[in-house]
Amino acid sequence: MQHLEQTLSSEQLAHALGTAETAGALAKILGCDERKARLAGLLHDSARGWPAEDLLAFAQKHELAVDNYCLEQPVLLHAPVGAVLAKEQWGIEDEEILKAIAHHTLGSPGMTVLAQIIYLADKIEPNRSYPQVEKLRSLAREDFPKALRMTVANSIAYQLAKNQIIHPSAVKYWNWLVQKTKEGG
Ligand SMILES: [Fe+2]
Ligand SMILES: [Fe+2]
Repeated sequence: MQHLEQTLSSEQLAHALGTAETAGALAKILGCDERKARLAGLLHDSARGWPAEDLLAFAQKHELAVDNYCLEQPVLLHAPVGAVLAKEQWGIEDEEILKAIAHHTLGSPGMTVLAQIIYLADKIEPNRSYPQVEKLRSLAREDFPKALRMTVANSIAYQLAKNQIIHPSAVKYWNWLVQKTKEGG
């Protein structure tokens, strides 16, 4: 905790604590491990404040995948870098927690419920403020898959509206979610 206070701004720390709290509450509703959800929520953005050059250097040193999208938007690397930090600095060995941190920004097909809890909690924790957030907060408790699909759709729609490139992992995650719904999952 002390280390997080040193590396995150006060807003980032509030966001980490809010994500941990929301993730824990969703895990309880969905029958997931609350402790794991809180821990992943707390640590998911531990590299969010890093400058682009530090993220790129760390990713290269640790042989993380750095595609052209990440070269253009190094901030995307804060998720996989955060997963390495969770392991190396915090001693977390649990692969499910590490993957939840690594995929919290773009999503990934086949994500576990825990990882999807972190994805959603990140977007609806109490410090977030945008037009649909209240609706998503209540929907997350009533119909988690629907809240998740809406959140992913919002994220992609936002990028389209801003004329931004959509990372293929985000598109693959979206397609997987839609397919899963059709299959009744
Ligand atoms: Fe993040
Ligand atoms: Fe976050």
